Amino acid sequence: MTYDAMKLNRTEFGNPSNKGNVLSETEAFGLLEDWVENDKLIVHMRQVGHLLRSYATKLGFSEEDQYRWFLAGLLHDADWEKWPETHCHKIIEELEKREIDPEIIHAIASHGPRYFGVEPVSLMDKMLYAFDELSGFVHAYSLMRPNGYEGMEVKGVKKRLKDKTFAAQVSREDIADASARAAIPVEELIQFVIDHQARALD
Ligand SMILES: [Fe+2]
Ligand SMILES: [Fe+2]
Repeated sequence: MTYDAMKLNRTEFGNPSNKGNVLSETEAFGLLEDWVENDKLIVHMRQVGHLLRSYATKLGFSEEDQYRWFLAGLLHDADWEKWPETHCHKIIEELEKREIDPEIIHAIASHGPRYFGVEPVSLMDKMLYAFDELSGFVHAYSLMRPNGYEGMEVKGVKKRLKDKTFAAQVSREDIADASARAAIPVEELIQFVIDHQARALD
């Protein structure tokens, strides 16, 4: 399979003069309502948004920054259901049209470097890439455990990662690549997901 149609073929996104511009929560969820029917996809985006917000909080970032990180996660797959072949293009165009902060748009554009051909540069970029696949993977694991996230351990997640038949669609290669780019050991990322994801939908 080739991903040529997904390639964005540019590295600049949005307009620097739009720095700090965001969609309100109502606008963001309204957009998801218009574009996404699949509840699992909504859960995925909310979980990634929550993880990014939690990470920005952990780093001591301002509330504005926490919200910007949240938005990048919340919207990163918004166009995946309706326009899978050109995933990323449509949401980027939409956010550019709505004059949203370029950092948020760049993070979305670089959440799959293999597919979109855009390198993660900022910390927000790198953390979105780092949490994207891992979030879905840990969630899949929680669904097969009798007590969900309760008592989940890093070693249990790692065992499943080695089992190539479990959540086979999750790219182990991307998880390793993203952890290397963020310079954070995968164990640490997994622990963060375990610690925060259970409350992502509260
Ligand atoms: Fe995606
Ligand atoms: Fe995703």
